[in-house]
Amino acid sequence: MEKFFSDCVNDTEKIAFDFANKLKADDVILYRGEMGAGKTYFTKGIAKAFGIEDEVTSPTFALINEYYGKINIFHFDLFRISSFDELYSIGFFDYFGRNGVLCIEWSENINFEVDYPESVYLVSINKSGETSREIIIEKVK
Ligand SMILES: Nc1ncnc2c1ncn2[C@@H]1O[C@H](COP(=O)(O)OP(=O)(O)O)[C@@H](O)[C@H]1O
Ligand SMILES: [Mg+2]
Repeated sequence: MEKFFSDCVNDTEKIAFDFANKLKADDVILYRGEMGAGKTYFTKGIAKAFGIEDEVTSPTFALINEYYGKINIFHFDLFRISSFDELYSIGFFDYFGRNGVLCIEWSENINFEVDYPESVYLVSINKSGETSREIIIEKVK
């Protein structure tokens, strides 16, 4: 487990940028943290590390945003997902084997068993003030 402190959005992006060194295709990031915690900003930092120039925006409406770089990013919002069947039907499992890291907002909703092919990281972002955040990264698989 690693613990970081962020005082601004640039800090959060830098923490994510450095962490991205560890990532490889088919790894999964399960985010924990309320709305406005900084999950999308963390994903922006990973995108920079992968040489992705497209702007990373919230996947709230699209459910999945795809970004292509040295490693791709498949950025999910599972706010409305509550069962394995729903996860399956949005094509979640089709994103493995496509040279991407899956970054998953509202992963709290995956409260059922899923077999992930590679490493899985839990990234918890807790608001400790207006612009301060505690970021905890745990490798869970
Ligand atoms: N240290 C920080 N890290 C990340 N975001 C921050 C920080 N301080 C303030 N913010 C603000 O919090 C919000 C985080 O937004 P976003 O990354 O979209 O959150 P989430 O995806 O968790 O809902 C943005 O408005 C951002 O400007
Ligand atoms: Mg978001």
